[in-house]
Amino acid sequence: MRFELIHHGQVDSTSERAFAAIAAGTARHGDVHIATEQTKGRGRFGRAWHSPPGEGLYMSVVLLPPPPAWDAPALTITAGLAMFDAAAALGVTQARLKWPNDLMCDGCKLAGALIETRGLDPAHPHYVVGIGLNVGQAGFPPELDRRPTSLALLGVSTTVEAALHQVLRAFSRRVEQMSSAPARLAADYARASHLDGARVRVRFGESDVAGDVVGLSLHEGLRLRTAAGAEQWFSLAVIRQIEPVRQTAE
Ligand code: BTN
Repeated sequence: MRFELIHHGQVDSTSERAFAAIAAGTARHGDVHIATEQTKGRGRFGRAWHSPPGEGLYMSVVLLPPPPAWDAPALTITAGLAMFDAAAALGVTQARLKWPNDLMCDGCKLAGALIETRGLDPAHPHYVVGIGLNVGQAGFPPELDRRPTSLALLGVSTTVEAALHQVLRAFSRRVEQMSSAPARLAADYARASHLDGARVRVRFGESDVAGDVVGLSLHEGLRLRTAAGAEQWFSLAVIRQIEPVRQTAE
């Protein structure tokens, strides 16, 4: 993929800038909006994304693929793996992905991605992939609801530019793999998220199902074997949360 970097100083949200360009008809596939600071950085489920000046990577990639529309859950997994790969390339060895694309280290969140589209028209599909990666923060405000961490706190000394370079490199490779080798991408995701063979509880809306993971496919979903021994596919689009279930010795 070819990327065009669009640098901003302080913005509300890089994803908002990307949507503004799409609405104005000036956006191109591969545009990357980057800011030094966000005043209204947002995460999944309407959460805020803490975006202090110069300390994190705040970027949003515009995707205007040719029809048919790309599979949004597949894109979500792709963005998660790109962050995982980038962190590994920067020297983070202990990261894992938490469904769908929280990048965690020792129970703390290092990075996250938010994939959005507005009024998806299958004839003119568009997505904005917003990625936030904590780079240089030496600490975080205590009021943040989920414990964050940063590359600096993990002992990785690097720059926002170097992090950007690694994320784009990994993203390009994983987007290509999404169509050329989807089974490989799914297998890499299952490994990076420790889902391979794991006993999990999967939450959909207000209900949940427990079982052992026996398969993951970008298009068919997550295959679970329940305690009754039945196997079933669950569409990735409806999975809200996947939690490990601690197994007791029998
Ligand atoms: C999450 O884990 O909840 C997703 C966090 C996504 C944050 C990034 S920072 C760049 C882009 N602009 C935003 O407003 N959000 C995303």
